[in-house]
Amino acid sequence: MLSDAQRNEKVAKLAEKVNYKESAVPEREIPSALVANNGSTVTNAWEWMNVRRPEILDFYTREVYGETLPRPEEMSSEEVSCRDVFNGRAIRKEIKITFRQGGFSHSIMMLVYIPRNAPERVPVFLGLNFRGNHACTDEIDVLESGRDPEGNLIEPVRGVQKERWEFEKVTARGFAVATCCYHDIFPDFPGESAWKKSVCSIFFPDTPPAKLNERYSAIGVWAWGLSRMLDVLEGEKLIDCRRAGVVGHSRLGKTALWAGANDRRFKVVVSNDSGHGGAALFKRNFGETIEILNTAFPHWFVAGFEKYNGKDADLEFDQNFLLSLIAPGALCIGSATEDLWADPKGEFLGGVYASEVWRLFGAKGMPVTEHPQPDVNVTGEISYHMRTGKHNILWQDWEHYLDAAGKIFSVTNI
Ligand code: GCU
Repeated sequence: MLSDAQRNEKVAKLAEKVNYKESAVPEREIPSALVANNGSTVTNAWEWMNVRRPEILDFYTREVYGETLPRPEEMSSEEVSCRDVFNGRAIRKEIKITFRQGGFSHSIMMLVYIPRNAPERVPVFLGLNFRGNHACTDEIDVLESGRDPEGNLIEPVRGVQKERWEFEKVTARGFAVATCCYHDIFPDFPGESAWKKSVCSIFFPDTPPAKLNERYSAIGVWAWGLSRMLDVLEGEKLIDCRRAGVVGHSRLGKTALWAGANDRRFKVVVSNDSGHGGAALFKRNFGETIEILNTAFPHWFVAGFEKYNGKDADLEFDQNFLLSLIAPGALCIGSATEDLWADPKGEFLGGVYASEVWRLFGAKGMPVTEHPQPDVNVTGEISYHMRTGKHNILWQDWEHYLDAAGKIFSVTNI
């Protein structure tokens, strides 16, 4: 295990060699998700669902994101607050979710906003946040959350990421929205103490973290957390969980994709700037590399993912395989023009190459094959846009996701 200084130094060296030139993208064929392990090509939706999809899911489980934790022996939820917000147009709740296993317990705090005046139960978007529930809003009474492995609050300042979570606008569009801080499910730090503070520890209190990382990963555990949040929301009278979407930015976009691949209750899956290890194709060798991911964030993936270090362009799979696991559901991929680290074109092409699986279902997938101009929204079973600007998730991104989800869920603004 490298020290922080060693890790930073190694990542800085690797980052110097990163390719940002389209002209230097290697000419490599992108593997087809339709070719099964025995070499035959899947030709219909039945074979996809019963033969090839399980193979890909199994591959990603073993090689990349790890196993899904089981359901705990006991899971309970407690509404710790409930009040009207936004001049009475929405209800805000904080729900403490507690997992119990073999005498151990672990709790997370979910912040939920639900439109009040909807004519019927509303669809919901779930997503994890980076810096704590209180960092997503400047409402002064939202409880602080998000702690490092030593138990310190990650973010002292309220509202620092409120531009990423426009709860009032989302609820005005007729959607409920729920979030938890990802650190409280698995603190996002390399090293043993994060594993010990993660929810994994209640299931495997005696297993050394290095051993656990052979089968589990932080991304896998965060995705599991999203599913448990949805379990709890199923008990909310005003929310229709048959119309649920999962949204995530960056590393949490990678997580949203894996959550959508594992939990088919997520009917809309949103990957915002998810980059490598998310929607972007590795084989393009543009932007971040597998070795950088494994060096900077060893806990995000299973330990064995390291065997692909330096092999980006030669992989026998690519992230179109991951995206294809969402088919025939709705997938939204968002990029940003200045986010070259995440390879916007590679994120787009991930969706284009995955579309062959949507076609098995009589759908189209990504409606276009040319990378759209900045700020042009392309909406289909796979939607895409590239916002002008930096690596971030902003209201402009949300608007497209809500439009795409609104079509599927037939939602009216309220
Ligand atoms: C780093 C990392 C990316 C990740 C991003 C984020 O830049 O290299 O893979 O997506 O952090 O989560 O913000």
